[in-house]
Amino acid sequence: MSYVHLKNVTKRFGDVVAVNNLTMEIEKGECFSMLGPSGCGKTTTLRMIAGFEDLDEGEIAVGERVFSSSAKRYYLPPEKRDFGMVFQAFAVWPHLNVFDNVAFPLQIRNLSRADIAERAKLALRHTGLDKYERSYPNELSSGQKQRIALARAIAINPTVMLLDEPLSNLDPKLREEMRFEIKDLQRKFGFTIIFVTHDQSEAMALSDRILVMRDGVVQQVDSPINIYTKPANRFIFSFIGLSNFLPVVFRNGSAFIEGAEDAGPIAGTIPADRGNDRMLLACRPSEIDLQKDGGVRALVKRKVYLGDIIDYRVMVGDTEVRVQKSRRSPSFSEGESCCLRFSQMHWYPHEDS
Ligand SMILES: Nc1ncnc2c1ncn2[C@@H]1O[C@H](COP(=O)(O)OP(=O)(O)OP(=O)(O)O)[C@@H](O)[C@H]1O
Ligand SMILES: [Mg+2]
Repeated sequence: MSYVHLKNVTKRFGDVVAVNNLTMEIEKGECFSMLGPSGCGKTTTLRMIAGFEDLDEGEIAVGERVFSSSAKRYYLPPEKRDFGMVFQAFAVWPHLNVFDNVAFPLQIRNLSRADIAERAKLALRHTGLDKYERSYPNELSSGQKQRIALARAIAINPTVMLLDEPLSNLDPKLREEMRFEIKDLQRKFGFTIIFVTHDQSEAMALSDRILVMRDGVVQQVDSPINIYTKPANRFIFSFIGLSNFLPVVFRNGSAFIEGAEDAGPIAGTIPADRGNDRMLLACRPSEIDLQKDGGVRALVKRKVYLGDIIDYRVMVGDTEVRVQKSRRSPSFSEGESCCLRFSQMHWYPHEDS
């Protein structure tokens, strides 16, 4: 039984359909991410869940209770939803010290002073801010400020946390640390997280399930591993991780890179439904083997060291293929001949067929 439920939700801004007939179900205690390019409707969806936007169509329910319904023209106001929220541009109040920043949402909820102090202190302790209670935001680093926003959200004891790109202002190392902190906090408090990001590695690291969205329309809802290994369409394949899309032709039951039939056939299972005998072969740079012989013949054009990984651009006829190998695997030089073997292949219709 799902906990947060969006049913056929649509939101328009003038001619723009920001969210188009969106249905999603989130389990209690789940970390659910919404992932998609800029402008695809992530923040709008979160704002509707939070109660800051009404719906043109559809319904949002939490547990047994309807929170928003276009048909019933019913909207529970945001402050009654008791969600913890951290928004894209995290806002801390510069004139309040850390403690008061965290306590403020509790004060407007008319809790007793003792209750407020207890909850705020607990939230500060869990976010590692207890030492900074009396500091002002301008005395803190951006990571610490980000944590004020998290502490403030935790303090209200939310059942659901809505996080909109909460780590976007942090440097990469701090971002990674905060991912673990968010996950730890979730384990401690057991809240449900709806997390919005356009950073796929962040979504992969944090989520139980990921929803991929494009132009307001859901593309796939699945576990991180399935989104990566079984992308439902070409858009998802290219959006998640690095990708090659190679034009392929089929001749006598074999597949060849288009224009480079003399480089030899592609080994492995080829799709039964081959469109017009032309398709796109999608593969990740890390899922291609580079070897001395056996496979499609190619030439190394460029080789770049990326720390532990070597990034190759190899040419099969006029088609460039990106291959990434561990620094410890056999190495090839620029200008050297090599052979390619595709270990994981995904097939999509050719654009021009
Ligand atoms: N208040 C508004 N008025 C008019 N158009 C809006 C409004 N809010 C959002 N939109 C439009 O709705 C679409 C979805 O916007 P939204 O902010 O939900 O995208 P997003 O996925 O959060 O993008 P980003 O990753 O850049 O934050 C965009 O085309 C945007 O221009
Ligand atoms: Mg946004």
